[in-house]
Amino acid sequence: MTFEHDEMQQLLTRLRLPLLRDQLDNLLDEATRQDLTLRETVQFLLQAEVRQKDQRRVAMAIKIAHFPAVRTLDGFDFKAQTAVDPKQIRELAVSRWVANGDTVLFQGPPGVGKTHLAIALGREAIFKGYSTLFVSGTKLLTELSAAHAEGRLNERIRHFGKPKLLIIDELGYLPFEANAAHLFFQLVSYRYERGAMLATSNRAVGEWGHVFGDPVVATAILDRLLHHSHIITIRGDSYRLRKKRQSGLVRKTPEHVNV
Ligand SMILES: Nc1ncnc2c1ncn2[C@@H]1O[C@H](COP(=O)(O)OP(=O)(O)OP(=O)(O)O)[C@@H](O)[C@H]1O
Ligand SMILES: [Mg+2]
Repeated sequence: MTFEHDEMQQLLTRLRLPLLRDQLDNLLDEATRQDLTLRETVQFLLQAEVRQKDQRRVAMAIKIAHFPAVRTLDGFDFKAQTAVDPKQIRELAVSRWVANGDTVLFQGPPGVGKTHLAIALGREAIFKGYSTLFVSGTKLLTELSAAHAEGRLNERIRHFGKPKLLIIDELGYLPFEANAAHLFFQLVSYRYERGAMLATSNRAVGEWGHVFGDPVVATAILDRLLHHSHIITIRGDSYRLRKKRQSGLVRKTPEHVNV
C-alpha cells in the first residue's frame, strides 16, 4: 500500500465516507469508463456515497420498526380489494399525514388487507425519513400494564411516544383489561399533536367504548385520535380465504350464504 493510498483511506474514514473508502478504485474506473469530467466524477462519487447512506438508514429504520412481515404497496392488489381507493392510499403514501401528526384508522373484518396496508404505509413513512414503530395492541397494553405495575410507566410511554409514527395493529380485538384504558389514554395524550398514529381494528370506532371498557375514557381517547383523522373502512371477503374459496375448499362467508 502506498503512503498516498493510506492517507486517502484515513481522510475518507474521518469524513465518514465508507463507500468511497472501500470502493474508490472501482468507482474511479467506472467514472473513467463513462468518460466523466472532473466535476462529474466528484458528483458521481458523492451520489454513490449518499445512495449507500440512504439505503443503510432505511434498512436500519425498517429493522427498528419491528414489522411482522414484508408488505408493500406494490404488492397490494387493488383490483382484488375494491373497497379501498387507490388514490387515497397513494395520497397517504406521500406521508404528509405523518408530518402533521394525524391518525389513520383501518377498520374492517379479518383478512381484508388492514395489516398489509399498515405495514406498507409504515415503510413509505420510513422512506420519507420518519421513525416508525409497529406494535400489536395486545403487546402494547401488556407492556404498559407491566410498566405501570413496576413504577416505570413514564419511561414506557416515552418509548412508545418517541417514534414519529406509531402503528398499533389489532386494536380492540381483545377487550381492554380494567385500568388499561387509562394507560392507553396517557399514551394517546402524550402523542397527541406530537406524533402520528395508525391503528387497525376489526371494530368500528363507534364500538370502541365497549372495547376500552370505560365510555368516559373512550370518549377522551377518541376525541384526540379523531381530531385529525383519516378513517378507512374496508369491506369484503378475506383475501386469505380467496384462493381456497376459488378452488372450492371454503364456502362463501356466512352473510352471503342463503339458508
Ligand atoms: N388486496 C390484497 N392484495 C394482496 N395481498 C393481500 C390483499 N389483501 C390481503 N392480502 C394478503 O392477505 C393476507 C391477510 O391480509 P391482512 O393481514 O392485511 O388482513 P387483516 O385485514 O389485517 O386481517 P386481520 O383482521 O385478521 O388481522 C396478508 O398476507 C396480506 O398480504
Ligand atoms: Mg391484521
